[in-house]
Amino acid sequence: MSGRFLVFDGVDGAGKGTQIALLRAVLEGRGHVVHVTCEPSDWPIGAMIRRYLRHELTEGVPGWQAMALLFAADRMQHNEHEIVPRLSRGEIVICDRYDWSSLAYQSAMRGEDVAEMDRALEWIAVINGQARRPDLTLVLDLDPELAAARRAARGGEEELLERLDLQRRVRAQYAKIPGLRPHDRHVTIDASRSPEEVHADVLAALDAR
Ligand SMILES: Nc1ncnc2c1ncn2[C@@H]1O[C@H](COP(=O)(O)OP(=O)(O)OP(=O)(O)O)[C@@H](O)[C@H]1O
Ligand SMILES: [Mg+2]
Repeated sequence: MSGRFLVFDGVDGAGKGTQIALLRAVLEGRGHVVHVTCEPSDWPIGAMIRRYLRHELTEGVPGWQAMALLFAADRMQHNEHEIVPRLSRGEIVICDRYDWSSLAYQSAMRGEDVAEMDRALEWIAVINGQARRPDLTLVLDLDPELAAARRAARGGEEELLERLDLQRRVRAQYAKIPGLRPHDRHVTIDASRSPEEVHADVLAALDAR
């Protein structure tokens, strides 16, 4: 029996963690075994990426290409050692960010030139071509300024990829992914509303499938 693989994606502060906690409670209440995980993962490559994002590792800071390759390598390790084995055991795996994040963020890091960002998007799709496809990707769409306000309220240090101009490009890149990955099942949800309203849409999207 194979489980179900669900991914939450969207700009920083869109409410992924909030929605994953709400969904987990519902699915566990229905008797499912739920495993929540995130990317960058807790495996060694993921841990190194997080140190770069938090400015803890300052030697050899990767540019967008090396960063995209690190994320892709972390993703394959995460697939091999955690995601795929749990799906094989019939668990529901919920992942906080997956390859749509790589597509959106690393292509946005490429710079402001739209044609170059789009070429980057295509290359990042290729290097993630072996990653297990989610059964559903839920993209929480939110204006980056609103997301920044939510993050400020939450507190904590600003990370490497959180600058507002970059977040604006990231949001625009997310919107292009369905055209690039036509076989990925996805739903885009308006995340500007209350957690309860967003949660209701999440459940409706899952129950519709
Ligand atoms: N629908 C909502 N309306 C208002 N505030 C929200 C909503 N959802 C989450 N928040 C708050 O916004 C902040 C960011 O939410 P959360 O941490 O869930 O986002 P995230 O997408 O996981 O962010 P990150 O990518 O930075 O981890 C939190 O303080 C959370 O309580
Ligand atoms: Mg989060």
